[in-house]
Amino acid sequence: MKDKILKLLGTAQTQYISGVEMSNHLGISRVAVWKHMKRLVQEGYDMDASPKGYRLKSCRDLLGFSFERGVSATRFFPIVDSTMDRARELAKQGADHFTVVIAEQQEKGRGRLRRSWLSQKGGLWFTIILKPDLPPPLSFKVNFAASLCLARTLNRLFDINARVKWPNDILVNNKKLVGLLSEMETRGDMISFVNIGIGINVNNQPEQDEPNAVSIRTLVGHDVSREVILGAFLDDLGAMLQNILDKEIIDLWKEQTSTIGKRVRIETLNNVHQGVALDVDETGALILEQEDNTTRRVIYGDCFHRENQS
Ligand code: BTN
Repeated sequence: MKDKILKLLGTAQTQYISGVEMSNHLGISRVAVWKHMKRLVQEGYDMDASPKGYRLKSCRDLLGFSFERGVSATRFFPIVDSTMDRARELAKQGADHFTVVIAEQQEKGRGRLRRSWLSQKGGLWFTIILKPDLPPPLSFKVNFAASLCLARTLNRLFDINARVKWPNDILVNNKKLVGLLSEMETRGDMISFVNIGIGINVNNQPEQDEPNAVSIRTLVGHDVSREVILGAFLDDLGAMLQNILDKEIIDLWKEQTSTIGKRVRIETLNNVHQGVALDVDETGALILEQEDNTTRRVIYGDCFHRENQS
């Protein structure tokens, strides 16, 4: 019943739906409608109740999200600690390949290198649970496919010149639009799951707290539909993950990156490396030419392009 109510409110967009209409549509009494609505408010849904009826004040564009497109299931939460934590629990409980966990807000959003990730309302915060038939050393292909695919999708939808920054962020005009965090669990020589967490600044305003971040709303000058972005991206990613072993993902990714050729600083948990990004090898590692002319192969870290700090 909860899903039916959310779908009804989600498809009504900004319109109110009266209690009578809801009760007729759902085949339950008005008192039952009222009880369900009260429970949804307690769960954190941003609901407006007035003499005209009920409507959702926010996240309508996510709730109408279609369950087709090869996505096994979407799980939407108004507020979570982190979609990474929910996705991990679900993956361990046997969630299907391509289950997507979406949140309107995260109270403990996580970034790479144990940083926190600001997750205001209006952004698109989600984690995709993937169970690819790959050995762990090839899991990098999935992460690079996700960032490549998302940059292409955003460019197709909004024509914003989104470029990938090693390893998996997406920048526009050197400002951070998207962050990607990946967590993997293995069993023996196979991947049990690889969860790809993605934060896209869509209709939120990250610039106030993060001067080197930008949102799609700022870039295009108006609000955009998170549903459209998520749907298009999942379609594209689903297609790219088909026969991924046969695809030269890194070569495709390199066509979309702004990192190669740049002077960079790379922070790992214990070190900082600096130099010019020469290349990304076939395993996804960054090849760095250091200031003493030696080269270093860096396999993980947070990369900063040195003309700014994004
Ligand atoms: C980074 O750039 O440091 C990675 C940021 C990843 C943020 C996303 S938002 C959805 C998912 N849930 C989280 O807690 N983190 C990822």
